[in-house]
Amino acid sequence: MSDSLLLAAFACLLFTSCITAMPARMNTNDRPVIGILTQIVTDEEMKPYGETYIPSAYVKYIESGGSRVMPIRVTCTTEYYEDIFQKINGLLLIGGAADLKTSDFARVAKIFFNLALKANDAGDVFPIWGTCFGMQQLSVLVAGENLLSKTTAENEALPLNFTAEAYLSRLFKDFPADLMKAIAQEPLTGNFHRYGLTIKTFQENEKLNNFFTILSTNIADNGAHFVSTIEAKNYPFYGVQWHPEVNRFMWDSRKNFPHSFHAVKLSTLLAEFFVNEGRRSLHHFEHPEEEAKALIYNYTPVYAANFSAYQQVYFF
Ligand SMILES: *[C@@H]1O[C@H](CO)[C@@H](O)[C@H](O)[C@H]1NC(C)=O
Ligand SMILES: *[C@@H]1O[C@H](CO)[C@@H](O)[C@H](O)[C@H]1NC(C)=O
Repeated sequence: MSDSLLLAAFACLLFTSCITAMPARMNTNDRPVIGILTQIVTDEEMKPYGETYIPSAYVKYIESGGSRVMPIRVTCTTEYYEDIFQKINGLLLIGGAADLKTSDFARVAKIFFNLALKANDAGDVFPIWGTCFGMQQLSVLVAGENLLSKTTAENEALPLNFTAEAYLSRLFKDFPADLMKAIAQEPLTGNFHRYGLTIKTFQENEKLNNFFTILSTNIADNGAHFVSTIEAKNYPFYGVQWHPEVNRFMWDSRKNFPHSFHAVKLSTLLAEFFVNEGRRSLHHFEHPEEEAKALIYNYTPVYAANFSAYQQVYFF
């Protein structure tokens, strides 16, 4: 323990009031572990390497915010996930393709989602972030039905059309004004989707509308206005239909991955924001050995740029 911490601890014995004066430091977990659910391999080119995967861009994204990553397989028992939930500090639902109601991914996402609702209600903070397919999965979990429709924006970088609420949101309120302006004007968000939630569908669905605030929208190829960024009103849950991780960690020149200064800044600030939500979670592993075995560092990513749009992929 450092001298200043010792002094602070000593001071607390004398002045009880400093317990209320120092809650942030005492309740912050600076060694967070964010879980990432694996996706089932469907791509023929990937099949030789494993049954499930996580593109390394998502891992680097979370690591860049100051967290460690635990890959979570999607074919285990409910008891296993209930146990893991008590050990990790947040969950990232990544992009990919699976059935949003019947897949293993959907089943596991639902288990964590329900545990997170209960925990957050009890003051035990547990953040969830959904990117692209992950955001779609969150919408199905909240609405209880699949409300997606065709909103194709495939390989398109777009500016965000912010709502008024975005400027007051937890996600964006601390962004510098000049960056907000750049995000609203420059094509800084990579879109790689065929389906999404239209603004109309969202607003007409009471469950979605009560649960999430729309922070940004965009226009698809077919003219549909779709929801592109959401934040839960009463939970630390976030969703983006676009891909913040590509701005720094994907480089396929056939793809419109934004790499400008502003694009990198946007990706950096969102990763740091989400990991900081994870620092509010005090869940932890029982033993350092158990933690060490769970982490992504036990795995080596495969070079994948010659058979996919990813630079590297973790296979499990
Ligand atoms: C931005 O959103 C507003 C409100 O939904 C809409 O009227 C406008 O057409 C949108 N513009 C773009 C470029 O998405
Ligand atoms: C991709 O590159 C790796 C490393 O150079 C090589 O081992 C692998 O066979 C290549 N795969 C394909 C499909 O070309």
